[in-house]
Parts: sequence; structure tokens; C-alpha cells
Amino acid sequence: MSPKVLVSKHVWPAAIDLLRAHAEVDYRDESESMPTSELCERLAGARALVCQLTDPITPEVMDAEPELAVIANVAVGYDNIDVAAASERGILVTNTPGVLTDTTADFAWALLMATARRVAEADRFLRAGRWGQWEIDLLCGQDVHHQTLGILGMGRIGQAFAARARGFSMRILYNDAVRADEALEAELGLEFAPLETVLEQADFLSLHVPYLPETHHLIGAAELDRMKPTAMLVNTARGSVVDEAALAAALASGSIAGAGLDVFEEEPQVDPGLLELERVVLAPHIASASVATRTRMCTMAAENVIAALASDPPPNLVNPEALERRASGL
Ligand code: GLV
Repeated sequence: MSPKVLVSKHVWPAAIDLLRAHAEVDYRDESESMPTSELCERLAGARALVCQLTDPITPEVMDAEPELAVIANVAVGYDNIDVAAASERGILVTNTPGVLTDTTADFAWALLMATARRVAEADRFLRAGRWGQWEIDLLCGQDVHHQTLGILGMGRIGQAFAARARGFSMRILYNDAVRADEALEAELGLEFAPLETVLEQADFLSLHVPYLPETHHLIGAAELDRMKPTAMLVNTARGSVVDEAALAAALASGSIAGAGLDVFEEEPQVDPGLLELERVVLAPHIASASVATRTRMCTMAAENVIAALASDPPPNLVNPEALERRASGL
């Protein structure tokens, strides 16, 4: 009998085709995530779950089906999954790294440019019929080229983001829990600096850290206070890396000048203060949303499931300790 795979919500069809060649697929082709109680019921008999970042995968979910062997998140981030609880239960957890690196870095730049050069505001202005004539000071923004770029988090996406700064002749300051090696710093023109220095000197600050207890509200009122009044913040990481209420307050008071945000603390809600500000560019968590990348993320999740069901190590396993636990028979 083929193993059962539950796919929690709509994915690109190529992933379903792949899975169907190896398993019985219970595909819930809906765009909304299901409530936890429904997810628990629907997991009955499933050995694998393909889920997304809107699905909180708690111990309660894991315990709903004792045979559950693998949870494949269609995202690089996996803070929606209690990985420690999965490891304790010998459940493999996988993600989709690499494939979305460039797409996400591109979008962080789109937000940076849109914020600096007031692109969204200009679009609203024009559509509202407010364009009278060319004016010397109409919608003037800030230069990006030759400015100082601050990056927090120098993993795959932080590096791809930094590489794109070269064309803008920027000075790049960065901070991370682990300093990059010298060769990478030289290749990308990176200067490692303490967090305070990055905050104080950056004209643009872009966040590329994972969401962890240590990065919760990495940018809060005190950090925003250290930034230049002309500085702009870009967040394509996770909403809770920033204290959103503190950010709205800092923007409203002019303690920083603008923000480009793709992620929010309580998605799909956005702090009402942010919605009122012209110099903020807001996007609904779409940094990895190109057709090619989103398709590949889905097929990667399917490949992770297929490997796990064949008792091979999945290519994108985030908790190897679960493999050991499985090998030791739990
Ligand atoms: C999207 O936010 C992801 O983690 O892939």
C-alpha cells in the first residue's frame, strides 16, 4: 500500500504530480490554512505532511498521527514548526533553502529602491490624478548609490543581497552571530562591525537573519533610536525580528525616514500606524514569489518527502538529530 501524504494547502501542481508517482496524496487544494483541529483530524494515516509557513506545526499536530515521519515545509524559514518537538519524536523536518536565495535578495532590493526613491508613493500620486507638471522638487527621494548599506545576517540571502550592492558602489557594513570568512568578506567588500556601529552608520539597513528566540525584536525602540533620521529599514526576514509597534512609532516621529516591509508580526495584520505612512512600502510576504522559485520550492518539498518515505536522508533535512533518533528506534 502506498504511504499517505497530506498536502495542507494549495501548492504548484508539479509537486502534486511528483508526489502522486510515489504516494497516495490527500491534497487540500485551498489557499487558506486549516485550523489545527482540522489538520489533526486530516493527518490520520499520513506518513508525511507538506505544509507552509501559515501552518503552525505544534506537538499536538505531531501527536495526531504516530506514524508521521516527515514534515516538509515549503519555505526556507521553519519557525512555524516546533523542531525540537519533532526531533524528540523522530520526525524529520525539511525546508527549501537555496532555490529562493536570489529571488528573495532581488525583492529586498526592490523594496529598498522603492522606499528610497518613493516608487509606491509616486504611483499613488499619479493614479490619484495629482500630477500637474514637472516640478524641481516633486517626490524627491534619497540616493542609494555610494551610501552605506547595513546588513544583519550574512547567510545565503544576506550574501546575495550584498553582492547586488556592488553595482551601487556602496560601503557594506554587516553583523552576524558568526563572522564570515576573510575570502567572502574580500569578495563581497564586506566590513564586519558591531551591531551598534551598523545601526548608527547605515543609510539602509536590511535584515536577513532567521527568526529565533535570539532574533526576536532584534530591531526594537532602542535600536531604531540609534539609526540615522534619514535611514531606511528593509525587512524580508520574519516580522517578529522587528518590534513592529516600535517601528511604526519611529517612522511617525521621524526617528528613521522609511521602511520597506515584506513581513509582519501577525500576518496578515499590519500595524495600523504603518498603513498611514507614505514613506513605507508594504508587501504581503512575497519576497520569494516568482513563478519559477515558488514552483521549485514546492517540488523541493515533494522531493524531501519522497526521500524520507524511501528511508533516504532528505536533501534538505533541518534536524539530523531526528534521523539518529529514528535509527535508534526512538
Ligand atoms: C519565506 O518566507 C520562506 O521562509 O521561504
